[in-house]
Amino acid sequence: MAASTAHFQLLQILVLSLTIPIISTPVVTASPPPVKAAYWPSWLTNFPPSAIDTTLFTHVLYAFLMPTTTYKFQIPASTAQHLSNFTTTLRRKNPPLKTLYSIGGGGTDSHLFARMASNWKSRQAFITSSIQTARRFGFDGMDLDWEFPENPTDMQNLGVLFTEWRRAIVHEARTTRRAPLLLTAAVYFSVDFFLDETYRKFPVWSINQNLDWINAMCYDYHGSWDTSRTGAHAALYDRNSNISTSYGLRSWIKAGLLKSKLVMGLPLYGKTWVLKDPNSHEIGSDAVAVGPGDDGVLTYVQIEEFNKKNGAKIEHDIDTVSTYSYVGSVWIGYDDAISATLKIQFAQGLGIRGYFFWALGSDSEWRISTQASRAWILGE
Ligand SMILES: *[C@@H]1O[C@H](CO)[C@@H](O)[C@H](O)[C@H]1NC(C)=O
Ligand SMILES: *[C@@H]1O[C@H](CO)[C@@H](O)[C@H](O)[C@H]1NC(C)=O
Repeated sequence: MAASTAHFQLLQILVLSLTIPIISTPVVTASPPPVKAAYWPSWLTNFPPSAIDTTLFTHVLYAFLMPTTTYKFQIPASTAQHLSNFTTTLRRKNPPLKTLYSIGGGGTDSHLFARMASNWKSRQAFITSSIQTARRFGFDGMDLDWEFPENPTDMQNLGVLFTEWRRAIVHEARTTRRAPLLLTAAVYFSVDFFLDETYRKFPVWSINQNLDWINAMCYDYHGSWDTSRTGAHAALYDRNSNISTSYGLRSWIKAGLLKSKLVMGLPLYGKTWVLKDPNSHEIGSDAVAVGPGDDGVLTYVQIEEFNKKNGAKIEHDIDTVSTYSYVGSVWIGYDDAISATLKIQFAQGLGIRGYFFWALGSDSEWRISTQASRAWILGE
């Protein structure tokens, strides 16, 4: 397709122009340094911490730890070894790099967090244990990935939790004369759950006061729950709905979140479908089932392998700012270095703090991570 080729070249020019360093621009600003973060899935047996290219990131998050039903962290010996190894290995590789551990994760018990956040005693047990755990294993901070608070009460309790958590962190830092632990949270792509029956909105006031930043999960907009059509699961723009990264990030800012507290999520994976008609292979084309991968999910490295092996056609879509490939009846929507870089340009235009990846181990020869790190030019 001629149009696609032209778009592709245009995108390449845009991306290349981003990598030209700005010469001698004095940066006189009090703004905090950018965040270039990534989550490390601790269950990856073939991707140890020693394999992480730490020059590409400012923060790496260990995913995940879960408190017990008493809201405390009880770490088995094997996990303890794993945690120490994680922080020690990364610190040795790149001393300024910060490590956090992330609490919860997708598919964990949302009600456990709801119960914990609902009263003072359980919040205190959780907070105290979280700080002890961070210090015990040499982490620089904690990240809460509660997916998701289910109603307005949960959201209000979350705000209170953040306030008490920050208070405890400040107190601990004073008493021990150490740098205060970082506190972040992984959150929905939008400030409110505008698609759900139960409307609720994140406590922006408390995030501004108490968190270092939030990691907005700007992905999973489409997937195996809708096999009727293909989708750009991390689209920057969507003409037909508000389910897009541009809408989500702007919703946070509109709600009063400080831009320095906002970090954009980038997926290192794609979503696959089986096309109804192999000749109809656009974003939004009719589909009949999920395609290859675990529940229709392939990592970027798997997508690259698949595309190469099967001679798939790769397209860059300028409307959504996303990448897709297709061959036969298989269709894959994802981000490559080009679409990821254009999103970074968008994020920088908005003036937000940085980006994070879900997840380490999925990039192909660090291609997207390297391009992203270069493209984020401020604070270099
Ligand atoms: C840490 O992990 C590395 C592999 O990444 C391994 O070689 C090393 O033995 C581990 N060290 C400890 C103390 O577990
Ligand atoms: C998107 O959200 C705005 C308000 O934030 C609303 O006015 C508009 O109707 C929404 N668009 C769609 C397609 O739902």
